[in-house]
Amino acid sequence: MDRKLSGKTIAMEAREAVEKKLFSPSSARNSGPIADVLCPLLKSHALVLEIGSGTGEHGEAVCRRRPDILWTPSDPDVTSRKSQAARARESDGMQMPLDLDVSRPGWSDELPDVDILVCCNVIHISPWATAKGLARGAADILHPEGRVFLYGPFLEGTASAPSNLDFDSSLKARNPEWGVRALADVKTLFAAHGFQLEKRIDMPSNNLSLIFSRSE
Ligand SMILES: C[S@@+](CC[C@H](N)C(=O)[O-])C[C@H]1O[C@@H](n2cnc3c(N)ncnc32)[C@H](O)[C@@H]1O
Repeated sequence: MDRKLSGKTIAMEAREAVEKKLFSPSSARNSGPIADVLCPLLKSHALVLEIGSGTGEHGEAVCRRRPDILWTPSDPDVTSRKSQAARARESDGMQMPLDLDVSRPGWSDELPDVDILVCCNVIHISPWATAKGLARGAADILHPEGRVFLYGPFLEGTASAPSNLDFDSSLKARNPEWGVRALADVKTLFAAHGFQLEKRIDMPSNNLSLIFSRSE
């Protein structure tokens, strides 16, 4: 289901609503594996900012395991923010959501620095301007030792999974500005903002976790 926001089409995963809290089947599947990778990366009392948090399930899953951290979800979509707020009311570490669209210049200007910027399943299902804004904002907002955590499908040339190539075609049919991003392009983009790929982790269903840190 896609939603119109300020004239732009925003992609939403399939969701079911229960009292404002939204649930997505894909988040139910991947929240555990994502938390497995993220939790060891988080120092004690880490400040986390998540971009495009959707239903808010990833933040809730990590906060359940790591009650010491502060996790701020965000989304440009108001229905998603309501779901994130419903989860924040029930989870000690989860903060009230922010209205952030990272394709807007200056989105990070008024925000405090954070230890880790998390972005799952967003940059393929929005224009490339979103990835560019994310990388630009990361350079602005992350502590010197901070990291960017990206999760989702990526293309890796001839090694690309057939399911990701099919997904790429279906995204482009929905919106020519969307598409599964090439890992090489994402690395080049983040390198231009002073980040190197520290770790690439294979995840279920041909997804990847990517951890970027500042270049030495
Ligand atoms: C496919 S959903 C993924 C939601 C969640 N991260 C997950 O993995 O289940 C994509 C989300 O990205 C958000 N989004 C799209 N464009 C964005 C932008 N420019 N800045 C921030 N979030 C954006 C959408 O509103 C939507 O909630």
